[in-house]
Amino acid sequence: MQTTIHQFNRVAEEYDFVNTLLNDYSFFMNNLPVQTGRALDVGCGSGILVNELSAHFGEVIGIDISDEMLEIATVKRQPSNTTYLNMDAENLVLVGKFDFIVSRTTFHHLNDIPKVIRQLQTLLNDGGKLVILDNVSERETPPAYVYVAGAVIEFIPHIRKFGFRNAVRIFNHQTSRSWLEHVTSDKYKSEQQYHELYRRLLPDCRLQKMGWAMGIVWEKQ
Ligand SMILES: C[S@@+](CC[C@H](N)C(=O)[O-])C[C@H]1O[C@@H](n2cnc3c(N)ncnc32)[C@H](O)[C@@H]1O
Repeated sequence: MQTTIHQFNRVAEEYDFVNTLLNDYSFFMNNLPVQTGRALDVGCGSGILVNELSAHFGEVIGIDISDEMLEIATVKRQPSNTTYLNMDAENLVLVGKFDFIVSRTTFHHLNDIPKVIRQLQTLLNDGGKLVILDNVSERETPPAYVYVAGAVIEFIPHIRKFGFRNAVRIFNHQTSRSWLEHVTSDKYKSEQQYHELYRRLLPDCRLQKMGWAMGIVWEKQ
């Protein structure tokens, strides 16, 4: 876990810059629950999703283990109904239940997913939803050149969309030594592994593959 904390502390500012531009949190917005009391974001990073959810829920809590990420979240995205906590997803200490529990690109960092899922299930109100989005890849750890090639391919489209200076900053982040060190230490599940694991943990969940990401939606009856 210390390595993950260190890696995210190191890239926090550029990660936030890039995700602010590229962010796509529509999978969560398309799966909002009926009840809109409390929401929890597990591995909230710099608070982009917490901020979006704050317009839909009475209260939103974001937890993360990276102080640098949480610092950006607190400074840039702290509406009055939001709280950020430095907390490990594998050891949640939270009071009360939630109507919506979300997690984006964080679960591949967890050691004991079954334990975390069990805890999140108990933290959900009846009728509440658990929505997870995480990387899926047929290669457990894609090599660095895959990410560099992706950054090269996206460079011109990014210039058109965000302007030259921003596109250069995105490119520099995506090909930086610290980011490549991080992504080449990640381990992703294959599509089949997702189906095997989540059909067992959350039998009536819906799995949806969206390019590099797998979405999981489960509703507590
Ligand atoms: C790829 S970032 C995603 C951030 C945010 N969800 C987003 O989509 O912008 C993964 C985040 O998970 C956090 N993280 C990793 N392991 C964690 C753990 N065990 N408990 C809580 N957060 C964790 C990292 O610090 C990092 O901020």
